[in-house]
Amino acid sequence: MIYTHLMLGTPFSISPNPATLHLTPSLKAALHKVRRTIDNRQGLSCILGDAGMGKSSVLRYLYGAYESESGVTAAFVTEPEISSPYAFVKSLCQVFNVTPRRSLLDQKNALKEFIFSEAAEGRNVVLLLDEAQGLNSTMLEIVRSFLNYETNNAKLLQIVMAGQLELRNRLKLKANKALKSRIIMYSLLDPLSLSETKAMLNHRCEMAEIEVPFSDSVIQLIYDAAGGVPRDILRFCDGAYALSQLTGEKSVSPETAQSVIDRESQIMADEAA
Ligand SMILES: Nc1ncnc2c1ncn2[C@@H]1O[C@H](COP(=O)(O)OP(=O)(O)OP(=O)(O)O)[C@@H](O)[C@H]1O
Ligand SMILES: [Mg+2]
Repeated sequence: MIYTHLMLGTPFSISPNPATLHLTPSLKAALHKVRRTIDNRQGLSCILGDAGMGKSSVLRYLYGAYESESGVTAAFVTEPEISSPYAFVKSLCQVFNVTPRRSLLDQKNALKEFIFSEAAEGRNVVLLLDEAQGLNSTMLEIVRSFLNYETNNAKLLQIVMAGQLELRNRLKLKANKALKSRIIMYSLLDPLSLSETKAMLNHRCEMAEIEVPFSDSVIQLIYDAAGGVPRDILRFCDGAYALSQLTGEKSVSPETAQSVIDRESQIMADEAA
């Protein structure tokens, strides 16, 4: 299969391009659960995971699927505005092309009107909300209020929130209990296994139409250093592949891989400090 038109950047790019997503069994299960919640109009789903585990890629994947589905109005908020509750609701309205209003109440009402008018036309409204760990209790309460729009057996708005693990902690707070009780399903993205890592790299190389430039022992080295986190695996692979090309290696040697792991780990530690 020719994927070249879908590839952006290098084979091991760390941008959340859904075309490069390798669907592991647990990812497939998570997608299936989210899709069922959306299609049955059950309201809220939540995708949780550490940094670099694939949350944004999963949301982009879902957006790609729903954007082209007839009978669905889908929107994707990559980074909600969190400076105030008003700015937050305005940022949700923006992705649905709902006109800005002057107050929080008017803005919420405008979104409500939009959701009801879409529902009246039989459309399922889907909001994909990334970086949800940044929402405070007031904003989470606003999310909850949007889930109140319903008929006897269906929600009018489906929301998929993705966030780092602190979102789960935030939902555990007493103030957010009402929202937590409404979450139909959580999916926790786990680190990849070694065999999933190999399959992911195969998938990437197939898309880029190159031979896999890593031996099993180099993949093991990278896998151990990355702890199964997809973004870290790709970061090490990208650096090692670039360096091996520079030095004219046919495939990445363990020494090259180790030197990139050491260098990138140092950069990551500095970034975290
Ligand atoms: N199953 C997978 N197959 C292929 N690539 C993956 C997979 N999971 C994650 N990735 C890649 O890992 C990188 C990081 O993914 P992504 O940006 O989606 O993570 P994230 O969970 O949103 O991170 P953050 O919390 O920092 O926003 C991306 O390049 C993405 O394509
Ligand atoms: Mg992300």
